[in-house]
Amino acid sequence: MEGPDTAHGIRPFARRFENAAAKLSDSDRGFRHAPGTGESTRPPSARSSRRTGEDSGGGSDGGAPLPRSGSADPYPKIELHVHLEGTIRPEKLLDMARRNGVTLPADNVEALSALYRYRDFDHFLEMWRATTGTMRTGDDFRRAVLDYALEAKAHGVQYIETTFSPINRNKWDGIPYPAMFDGVTDGITAAAEHYGVTVRAMPSLIWGVDRELAEECAQWAVRYRDRGIVGLDAGGNELARGDVSEFDRAVAIARDGGLGIVPHAGEAGGVRAIRDVLRWNPDGLQHGIAAAGDPALMAELVDRGTVLRVTPTSNVATRVVADIAEHPLPRLREAGVRCSIGTDDPALFGTTLGQEYELAERLGISPASAYRAGVDGSLCDDAVRQRLREVGDTAFGAPTG
Ligand code: HPA
Ligand code: ZN
Repeated sequence: MEGPDTAHGIRPFARRFENAAAKLSDSDRGFRHAPGTGESTRPPSARSSRRTGEDSGGGSDGGAPLPRSGSADPYPKIELHVHLEGTIRPEKLLDMARRNGVTLPADNVEALSALYRYRDFDHFLEMWRATTGTMRTGDDFRRAVLDYALEAKAHGVQYIETTFSPINRNKWDGIPYPAMFDGVTDGITAAAEHYGVTVRAMPSLIWGVDRELAEECAQWAVRYRDRGIVGLDAGGNELARGDVSEFDRAVAIARDGGLGIVPHAGEAGGVRAIRDVLRWNPDGLQHGIAAAGDPALMAELVDRGTVLRVTPTSNVATRVVADIAEHPLPRLREAGVRCSIGTDDPALFGTTLGQEYELAERLGISPASAYRAGVDGSLCDDAVRQRLREVGDTAFGAPTG
């Protein structure tokens, strides 16, 4: 287990970044997230083994402007927490809506971006639902994987584990499961071929749906295991999760089929949501930040080797955390809880992977620590993990201790 983060042992290109980031944090302490503009108020700158087997400066594809990538030579990053539906930048979303004959709650980039200012977590989920139903074809899913791989590559990404939510698309819009899974997994193949970015994916159950729907989704996931589906997530409104044992069978289907389990818990749902999902012995937790208020739970997560997939901007934008200065990352780090870093829904939060790593660094999680937590917490197979480790060791130096 890696000790507390010292951010040392970083090789030259990462060192350059480190210096730039240090200057930034001196000149710009009170960073505030500016939801909806796609820009921050600061200057841009820069476990266990499992199965299956550059730089374009921010890569804006239209929509809310992307913060620029910090460096022409970004240090390597891993992203384990990103919703495929939440990666589609406003302009592309508007195009997709026109193509699919879907009516969005706004018909231009500015108005759409203005909707991305959330009063609270429920409001965020409302906007998420209102916009993400735009995806209607397998090709929408394939393109989303490819586009995000290219965007994240500009920020140095080596490996992405994306989650997507097929249940409502199937139930409400009648999109067949194979269309969505073929789209995502074809996107995975194309991202490797065209961009050299390794992507893996997992479908997300939705808290509160009928157990039969959850089980059907888990069965589809297992069928696509050999094409890059590596796990099962659960998301949506944690506070509406009810009795999580309703999902026991879906979780068992996924596990028996060789998939990992990484639910959302401890975002808006507090400590109890985390305790509830521990019954599944999860391979990681999306968010999990509520554990910071419970020393015994943090100790348990350390004991289990659970890696949290933390998304700082999202937590402030959804008002789960009041201010970035109050983010629980430092407390988690001090307790020795491993934290990887992601964007959650970069288009809906106006952020990028580069920006999230920078924020995390200011909160005491070094790029090396975030990267290594990503390697250890990912659901990839041993060969991919080994390659990621080597990339990390070359960039950051071999881990000490
Ligand atoms: N939490 C729960 N459900 C979600 C999220 C999230 O952060 N993003 C998209 N759906
Ligand atoms: Zn999420």
